[in-house]
Amino acid sequence: MQTLTIDLDERSYPILIGKGLLQNPEAWQGLPRAATAVIVSNEIVAPLYADDLRAAIAPHYPRVLTLVLPDGEAHKTFQTLQKVFDLLLGEGCDRKTVLFALGGGVIGDLTGFAAACFMRGVPFVQVPTTLLAQVDSSVGGKTAVNHPLGKNMIGAFYQPVRVVCDLSTLRTLPERELSAGLAEVIKYGPIYDMAFLDWIEAHIDALRARDMQALAHAVQRSCQIKADVVRQDERESGLRAILNFGHTFGHAIEAGLGFGVWLHGEAVGCGMLMAASLSLRLGLVDAAFVTRLQALVERAGLPVRGPVLGADAYIEHMRLDKKSEDGQIKFVLIDSPGRVVVRPAPDALVAEVIDASCGS
Ligand code: NAD
Ligand code: GLY
Repeated sequence: MQTLTIDLDERSYPILIGKGLLQNPEAWQGLPRAATAVIVSNEIVAPLYADDLRAAIAPHYPRVLTLVLPDGEAHKTFQTLQKVFDLLLGEGCDRKTVLFALGGGVIGDLTGFAAACFMRGVPFVQVPTTLLAQVDSSVGGKTAVNHPLGKNMIGAFYQPVRVVCDLSTLRTLPERELSAGLAEVIKYGPIYDMAFLDWIEAHIDALRARDMQALAHAVQRSCQIKADVVRQDERESGLRAILNFGHTFGHAIEAGLGFGVWLHGEAVGCGMLMAASLSLRLGLVDAAFVTRLQALVERAGLPVRGPVLGADAYIEHMRLDKKSEDGQIKFVLIDSPGRVVVRPAPDALVAEVIDASCGS
């Protein structure tokens, strides 16, 4: 078991990474004490792992409840959040109750937001079971639900007390979801660490084949980078925006098609290519960089052409992005490989990129 720490003063917490952690008692010691623990999961993940998690935490909590929510991005809503509050209040949970988010980023974001709100804040533990959640969403304390008008629009910064990444859970992950997670792994290269991009290129086939050593390194390095960024800018007043590379275009794809049609990681993969193309048109990077990134995204099993929504629809969705100011979209662009710049771009140029990047 590897332990990283996310250093946020009194809100610091460990990220545990390893195989078989659901069965490893060490991973579950020293959590906040409470009369009740609540495992929040979904109809896909709960049958696979909720019994293991229950057994792991049962020695520490007199009562362990499990709430099984519907699966998928389309359910990352206020209505689903209400189901969490209904259970917590109906079962007489108190402000010491500990929530355990068992699942991918949807469960993690939703449970984290529920924990932030319930009785003005109860402790929660992230137990991510997708690659995407292990390398990104479980770390850093962004929690949210979607609004029909925009992705992750209602939420809070609220840190978990621990993240437990059991790599063994990735064995049951559908291939399409594994690829979606690889998009967020690839992201860390161009924004922060080009040597990591070299490593991903050399190990992309091993990662897709679920080689545990390769996955362990991908999760560790991704979490290290994310922890380093979040440590410096927890609430995204500057640096943390680099983690949104590909997300401005990607969120427009997700919202434009309807949440859940493209997976978040698929939209981010394609969005990174659009952002890289915009960087090229602005003279920041050369064509070889864009070609290199596109080849890797393709080898990860991800789409490289965006859906045709029309440039106007993309731009309208992107104006709702949380980084926009006075309706002006701020793009996370590659300034030079490994370095990011956040800046606006002329609508006409953005439209050219969209038209050139979408459709078969
Ligand atoms: P997800 O939570 O929908 O999980 C993907 C699918 O895999 C689901 O059907 C899920 O039930 C299933 N699944 C999960 N673990 C499994 C396992 N081990 N075996 C078999 N099936 C399994 O999607 P995701 O890609 O994990 O997360 C995407 C979400 O994360 C989006 O809502 C996105 O906005 C959010 N996100 C948040 C942050 C953040 O910083 N908070 C960062 C990135 C993404
Ligand atoms: N995934 C973007 C962030 O955590 O800031």
